[in-house]
Amino acid sequence: MKALKKILKWTGITVFLILIIITIAVASRQNLKFDAPYPDIHASKDTAVIARGRDFVYGPAHCAYCHTTLDKLPQVEKGEILPLTGGHAFILPIGTLYSRNLTSDETGIGKLSDGEIARALRFGVGHDGRALFNLMPFNNLSDEDLTAVISYLRTLEPVKNDVPKNEFNVMGKIVKAFMLKPVGPEGEVAKSVPVGPTVEYGKYLVMNVANCRGCHTARDLHTGEYIGPFYAGGFKLPSEIDPSITLCTPNITCDAKTGILANWSKEKFIERFRQGRLIHESIMPWGPFSHMSDDDLTAIYKFLRTVKPVENDPGPRLSKTI
Ligand code: HEC
Ligand code: HEC
Repeated sequence: MKALKKILKWTGITVFLILIIITIAVASRQNLKFDAPYPDIHASKDTAVIARGRDFVYGPAHCAYCHTTLDKLPQVEKGEILPLTGGHAFILPIGTLYSRNLTSDETGIGKLSDGEIARALRFGVGHDGRALFNLMPFNNLSDEDLTAVISYLRTLEPVKNDVPKNEFNVMGKIVKAFMLKPVGPEGEVAKSVPVGPTVEYGKYLVMNVANCRGCHTARDLHTGEYIGPFYAGGFKLPSEIDPSITLCTPNITCDAKTGILANWSKEKFIERFRQGRLIHESIMPWGPFSHMSDDDLTAIYKFLRTVKPVENDPGPRLSKTI
């Protein structure tokens, strides 16, 4: 009996000490800094470059969806050119992340250099050196498009809006301490990608701009890692509009049994995008996407037809969050 008590006591003490060590390790690793080169990108005053940036920001790159708050959604859906004052809350299993103010105020990006903004978007390292959560898919944005986007951001009138700091729960703090790493480009980044209704441009939009791949592939919500075949759907996220509903992305390959694009003509695809949001609770940024050009949508459609069909039925698109 005595021996057992002794063992229990020492086990208790050991577990307690291990917990303390883990807690200290997690706490001491909350402000990790990472390094990445500053891309040689400089904002331009050329009106054609700025116009291309604007079309990207309010269209396929959907910055306007994430860098405005949800109460502005009806205006975003109409395609209004709103100031990008940030503060959109993303409620994730690791905590709540807030998108940043992108206007030229000092609470926005007024004090950041072009290189700092470019590095955040390309290498996932924030201006302050921390690893950004991989929510933005722009690591392989071409030099030309990154220049266009930053050139447009520099034209935004300053609006004061001090966005709250990200809030992490215990799980989020552990992820931040041991798992979170900045995500950089896959392969070499192009200087420029020729624009047009082509498979090549479609691939670029789908993978590096509109994030179709990022949402229509199953992912681990803690780390953002891909855990299912590309484009086969099954990524589950709670609705921002009604958190009691969980959305599940459909399979957008052309698999005859389970892929929703199998029987869609190009005309039907474009028409569906022009309709915008049909499921009220959807998290797909239909607003900005409904304003893409016919050429952009044609390019996306053409590329998706070349993707390997995967048989995978991800189940209903809407379910009750338990
Ligand atoms: C899916 C939502 C989403 C989209 C789309 C998006 N952002 Fe963000 N953005 C965020 C979130 C969330 C953060 C904060 C991330 C963090 O703190 O880890 C952020 C942070 C930033 C930052 C701050 C980086 C730093 O140094 O702190 C910049 C700059 C930025 N975004 C620019 C853009 C631009 C430009 C676009 C469009 C080309 C864009 N974002 C599209 C959600 C998004
Ligand atoms: C933020 C996540 C997200 C992004 C980014 C996203 N989707 Fe979706 N998508 C969804 C969800 C969730 C649904 C199911 C709800 C709905 O139909 O709105 C969906 C539905 C669809 C549908 C079915 C629509 C219907 O009426 O049957 C198509 C087609 C589609 N997405 C294609 C795309 C393409 C192409 C892109 C890139 C241009 C894209 N999605 C980007 C989340 C996303």
